[in-house]
Amino acid sequence: MRRHTATATSSSPKAVGFALALALLAAAAGLFALGGSTSTSRAQTLERGTEIRHLMEGHSECSRCHGAEGVRPTPSSHAGFTDERCRSCHAPGPPPQLPEEEPPVGDSYCLNCHSNPDIAVRLDDGNLLSLYVAGSVYATELRQSVHGDISCATCHPDKGAYPHAGIDMSSRMAYRARAVKECSRCHATVWEDYSQSAHGQALLTGKSESAACYDCHSESSSGHAIRPVTGPEAVVAPSAIFRQCGRCHSHELDTYLETSHAKVVRFGDPLGAATCVTCHGAHDQKRVDDPQANLTKSALLVTVCRNCHGGATENFAAAWMGHRGASATRFPIVYFTERFFVFLTAVMVGIGIIHVELDFFRWLANRLRRKRGQG
Ligand code: HEC
Ligand code: HEC
Ligand code: HEC
Ligand code: HEC
Ligand code: HEC
Ligand code: HEC
Ligand code: HEC
Ligand code: HEC
Ligand code: HEC
Repeated sequence: MRRHTATATSSSPKAVGFALALALLAAAAGLFALGGSTSTSRAQTLERGTEIRHLMEGHSECSRCHGAEGVRPTPSSHAGFTDERCRSCHAPGPPPQLPEEEPPVGDSYCLNCHSNPDIAVRLDDGNLLSLYVAGSVYATELRQSVHGDISCATCHPDKGAYPHAGIDMSSRMAYRARAVKECSRCHATVWEDYSQSAHGQALLTGKSESAACYDCHSESSSGHAIRPVTGPEAVVAPSAIFRQCGRCHSHELDTYLETSHAKVVRFGDPLGAATCVTCHGAHDQKRVDDPQANLTKSALLVTVCRNCHGGATENFAAAWMGHRGASATRFPIVYFTERFFVFLTAVMVGIGIIHVELDFFRWLANRLRRKRGQG
């Protein structure tokens, strides 16, 4: 986030300058083309188009991931732009906004009640929700998280007095859907994407097992232990993110781990091959049947694969087996070749065993014969 603050402040006047220049250019182009309406829509999209909604570290080669169509396409107007030029028009998204007012109460007020190990509520659906905030959580986990300077009441603004207002204790789902909104107050840009994603939509409409912010951003799924996005402690960095996703998507994790991509990411260069996020996005994962997801082979080929596999053709993308692996109907050649080798191995091992056994009996027989000859 610090890098965002630095870049955003230094580049915002520049961004405004570019915005103005582009608006002028667009207007001029509009005059020439007699297309007044196009010029207004251009000027409008420019404002939204200027924000980069992801990390800058490890993403300096923009054209690695942004082709002409697919997961996040660059418009046709971008033909021929170099990586260096991208940042002159697209600034990183704004840093998180801390609320302006000071929280009315200090942390010790909350801990009066919440440091009691037995504090819990019975939810209407029968589940017990512990409300205990252990001393170690407060003193260590929270302090060492990215939110070490933020007080309890800043994140939980409606809990400044007791009885607490607006409590809905109907179910864990209601609780999780409400808790995820605590993060949205300061991370508005991320929220815009997340609330429209497969995860956000599912969580907000009743599927409590879907991914909340703190499921991906902490190992313990705790809002009090959010880890940094980069560095050795990061849990969402390319070298670690597949583990977080894999906690819920174990089948996709298993199939991913079999690919060369996973091997390069785990044992070689974490930025050198595709991770879950390269193909699906970080905060805006769409359902695979959503037309916006554009996970078709040809779309992925252009936006994702060609960035690393230079001359990749349609056949190359078609050869990728996805998460489902080979079967008698999907990739039958791969499937039957694999089966054949399993069969062949079994036969070879079988023959080996028979061979060793025959050899042993032969040796035994010879030995017995020799003994009898001696005796
Ligand atoms: C590793 C792949 C990758 C690289 C490298 C990369 N991006 Fe992205 N970019 C994405 C993905 C995936 C998204 C979708 C947002 C998300 O969920 O993170 C995205 C989103 C964006 C968006 C927002 C699009 C929208 O819909 O609002 C912009 C703008 C952008 N990238 C610009 C850039 C620029 C400029 C660079 C180079 C400094 C860059 N990207 C490098 C993968 C990448
Ligand atoms: C001259 C300024 C300029 C440069 C340079 C530039 N862009 Fe853009 N970009 C824009 C504008 C304006 C839009 C808004 C969409 C449009 O053109 O209709 C946009 C849109 C995008 C989008 C889609 C955002 C969305 O809202 O869906 C992505 C992704 C993107 N640019 C990435 C890049 C990358 C990567 C580079 C470098 C290869 C780059 N841009 C270079 C001005 C620029
Ligand atoms: C007088 C005791 C008391 C104090 C002081 C107190 N709480 Fe609570 N809190 C409770 C009880 C009891 C519940 C269970 C729900 C209920 O009965 O209202 C609860 C529920 C909660 C919940 C879970 C419910 C939800 O809607 O998310 C959170 C989070 C919470 N408190 C945070 C705080 C924070 C932060 C503070 C300090 C600003 C605080 N509490 C101060 C007793 C207290
Ligand atoms: C960065 C924002 C943030 C801060 C700071 C924060 N909380 Fe929370 N808190 C959350 C979120 C998000 C959840 C829901 C997710 C979860 O269960 O961990 C939560 C859950 C809770 C719960 C419900 C029990 C639980 O663990 O699920 C209580 C009680 C609570 N917080 C009290 C506190 C107290 C007391 C402090 C100060 C010592 C504090 N919080 C500081 C974001 C925060
Ligand atoms: C009161 C405002 C506020 C709330 C609420 C809040 N954050 Fe933050 N968050 C921040 C600030 C400020 C930073 C930057 C801290 C720094 O860089 O020192 C930050 C940093 C982060 C980072 C690290 C970014 C990086 O570049 O390493 C993540 C991840 C994050 N927050 C996620 C969350 C999640 C998840 C929640 C909900 C549990 C949440 N935040 C709630 C203000 C907030
Ligand atoms: C499905 C997993 C997942 C969920 C859910 C998720 N994140 Fe993230 N988040 C990531 C990943 C992966 C990155 C690293 C981005 C990259 O590599 O471009 C990230 C990056 C971030 C960053 C720092 C960089 C940036 O894009 O600004 C912040 C802040 C953040 N997330 C906050 C949140 C908040 C707040 C929520 C909930 C509204 C949330 N995240 C939900 C996976 C997730
Ligand atoms: C090389 C690109 C790529 C990578 C890397 C990737 N996926 Fe996928 N994913 C896809 C495509 C394409 C689909 C569409 C269905 C298919 O072809 O299997 C998909 C489908 C999915 C689905 C929908 C259900 C299904 O199996 O069809 C989930 C969930 C999913 N991926 C999660 C993950 C997770 C978690 C990871 C990382 C462990 C990951 N993906 C890595 C491209 C990728
Ligand atoms: C806490 C569990 C959890 C985590 C962590 C999680 N997901 Fe999910 N994800 C879900 C659930 C549940 C759904 C189904 C939502 C629905 O029914 O619409 C889902 C849906 C999806 C889909 C759409 C699947 C479809 O059927 O079309 C994709 C793609 C996806 N997740 C990818 C990811 C990636 C990539 C990560 C890591 C960056 C991740 N998920 C992390 C629980 C999780
Ligand atoms: C960020 C770089 C990167 C991206 C993006 C990428 N790959 Fe790869 N890919 C690699 C690397 C590195 C290897 C391993 C070295 C090698 O075999 O060339 C690899 C290996 C492969 C292999 C070798 C087969 C195997 O598993 O043994 C296939 C097939 C493949 N990639 C398909 C794809 C497809 C399809 C896409 C697009 C959906 C894609 N890759 C996107 C970097 C990438």
